[in-house]
Amino acid sequence: MSKPGDLALDWVRTLAPYVPGKPIEELERELGITNIIKLASNENPFGPSPLAIEAMQRALAETWLYPDGSGHVLKHKLAKKLGIDVNQITLGNGSNDALVLLAEAFLAPGFEAVYSQYGFAVYPIAIQATGAKGVCVPALPADSAMPLGHDLKAMARAINERTRIVFVANPNNPTGTWVDARELEAFIAAVPRHVVVALDEAYFEYTGDLPLQNGIEWLARYPNLVVFRTFSKAYGLAGVRVGYAVSHPSIADMLNRVRQAFNVSVVGLAGAAAALEDTDHVTAAVQVAVSERARVAARLQKSGTKVLPSAGNFLMLHAGPDAKARYEALLRGGIIVRPVGNYGLPEHLRVTLGTPEQNDRFLKAWEA
Ligand SMILES: Cc1ncc(COP(=O)(O)O)c(C=O)c1O
Repeated sequence: MSKPGDLALDWVRTLAPYVPGKPIEELERELGITNIIKLASNENPFGPSPLAIEAMQRALAETWLYPDGSGHVLKHKLAKKLGIDVNQITLGNGSNDALVLLAEAFLAPGFEAVYSQYGFAVYPIAIQATGAKGVCVPALPADSAMPLGHDLKAMARAINERTRIVFVANPNNPTGTWVDARELEAFIAAVPRHVVVALDEAYFEYTGDLPLQNGIEWLARYPNLVVFRTFSKAYGLAGVRVGYAVSHPSIADMLNRVRQAFNVSVVGLAGAAAALEDTDHVTAAVQVAVSERARVAARLQKSGTKVLPSAGNFLMLHAGPDAKARYEALLRGGIIVRPVGNYGLPEHLRVTLGTPEQNDRFLKAWEA
């Protein structure tokens, strides 16, 4: 044995860790500049509702106590809003946590889970951490109607008797691509009942006029479906880490067995519950993102940059062979976007839609 870390399980030692967006403070330290904008992690540039901020400030006085491990208040509010039963909800420390709970509960060495090439990077990590085999299905080609999107037909063919989970991100990050509601329902209906469909709707609120389905409405028909949502994006609460899974109560029961008893903090529970009260705040932020999505995409395309179709609060650009140099030039101008070489897309960059002013600053720098 050379290092004690070598004692870790094979599938952990060979795991490639998640690559996060560059934090603002890091760029400040590196370049000694200020007035930096981060368009790198699909956060909501308008932040959380003032009601959520007040609730979190009040909750600070309670932080010497453990949180309510059952998440009673938040779950009841969610159940009412979504028209589901409380026992269908599993709260997570971000939806990332809930995705990991699903993998822990359903996967082990000898089992398989299917996901799409260019699918959200957490899926292969969550799968591999259990020792199960991740089956990565080639995405749709770049010249298809939904370039680099999920190929549901090929994903269905990749399912076998060892498969326990198939991950579908709708829309997907980092591509922004989505699957049409009818095609997705046909896929879910055809998935064998020994396989759980993990439908990740982290960007659901940004759908706008696009033909995406609210997966929660399908739960009664497809008991092997699990829908994931988050407070990190449209609700502007990425920093306090609250997300959830909605499923058949028997699946929620299993996820709650592997869940840490206090996985969502006192501050997170208070912020999320209060954020649900302020639909105007969410609607306003989403409206800006949806209109900026069209405006920024049109402007980029006009100046010759190819942009993938997006149903999220971000756009994936084809930056070309000098993508890295363009990323670095943006950094020097105080603009952090997201390189996606770790997804096997070294010529692309992903940019989060910020405020209109931030987007203008990005466009100006991009076109310079
Ligand atoms: C598709 C998708 N799913 C899940 C997540 C996880 O988000 P969180 O853990 O903040 O809820 C993200 C975050 O970027 C995402 O893009």
